[in-house]
Amino acid sequence: MSSPFEAVKVSEHVYWVGAIDWSITDFHGYSTRRGSTYNAYLVMGDDPILIDTVKAAYKDELLSRVASVTDLKSIRYLISNHSEPDHTGSLPAVLAAVEPEKVFASPMGVKALGAHYHMDREIIPIKDAEPYELGGLSFTSFETRMVHWPDSMITYLADDRLLFSQDGFGMHLATSDRFADQMEDRLIFEEGAKYYANILLPYSNQVTRLLEKVSNLGVEIDLICPDHGPIWRKGCDRILGLWGEWAAQRPTKKAVVVYDTMWGSTDLMGRVIGEAMQAEGVAVEVMPLKACDRAAVATQVLDAGALLVGTPTLNNGVFPTVADVLTYLKGLKPKNLLGAAFGSYGWSGEGAKLVNEALADMKVELVADPLNINYVPDEDGFDACRSLGAAVAARLKEVVGSGS
Ligand code: FEO
Repeated sequence: MSSPFEAVKVSEHVYWVGAIDWSITDFHGYSTRRGSTYNAYLVMGDDPILIDTVKAAYKDELLSRVASVTDLKSIRYLISNHSEPDHTGSLPAVLAAVEPEKVFASPMGVKALGAHYHMDREIIPIKDAEPYELGGLSFTSFETRMVHWPDSMITYLADDRLLFSQDGFGMHLATSDRFADQMEDRLIFEEGAKYYANILLPYSNQVTRLLEKVSNLGVEIDLICPDHGPIWRKGCDRILGLWGEWAAQRPTKKAVVVYDTMWGSTDLMGRVIGEAMQAEGVAVEVMPLKACDRAAVATQVLDAGALLVGTPTLNNGVFPTVADVLTYLKGLKPKNLLGAAFGSYGWSGEGAKLVNEALADMKVELVADPLNINYVPDEDGFDACRSLGAAVAARLKEVVGSGS
């Protein structure tokens, strides 16, 4: 087989042999405008070991990169850290191509791989936190349930002081560079936060436990090799620290105002409410849904202390794009938010009340009753918008304090 794709050396024993997906724009509902990578790694011990695979469509890219280092048939072991199809879609085809002697996964991974691929071959469960040797190298795998699925685990290669962290510490970002230290800080921060907000936010408690496990390894980690985005070979503490901050979900003096509009009234209200909060010293992100998608909203909510949601009433209900965002945010379980609902209506006026109920259901502390304006706001309506913005800002400053 010719090898149009090359492996990238990561450490003494490890090569990156993953795939770059330049074209993905939607990852199960999360907009990935900068693409993604599916990282897999080849460990060249006495016997080669493959760590994870890639999405089904990228099997040839993976095999090509592996073949640039070693004969495919020389791979003796395969460790699957996470069963989601972006890391295992090509597993059956890869197993057929390399024919490894043994395949390993977490106990939950053994079940998940069985339920996905119904393969007629043994997958060996790895014992949590118990060191083992493969190819003359020393590994320890740790279960990290719900970061991101119940089967997830991370695997530490002691010889290279390197952590294979599967979805942990990753991001959806396709670039020609493989290492975080080659990329702009702003890019890393933006895409890292977006990934955390849209994938890991509901599992923040489990993330905190993962960070404790990493810290309790009791060893220096020189490299973190996630299954998406850049590899960390310098400053691993930086990504660990960011994940710690995001998992803590401490509210800041920042408000997100998200809404859609039919004839412009809810848009006017959102902008006036936003300016009123800004006048009170709150950082405001105004997010009309004609310009922003649900993933962008979730990203801004990650470090916000307030969430205000507006809708026109349409057919006795909430505008569809607003309902979409509320459903999405509810699933992500953001914590420590206060906020309010607002909207405009013609005759029945259920929209803002339904948004209010949805926010209450998300355990958002409601600062005021929903502000519902008939047709088009007049000067009294604008005053009501300013009052709502000022009330939310005042409560936010009370909760967060003046320092943030
Ligand atoms: Fe990248 Fe949970 O899969």
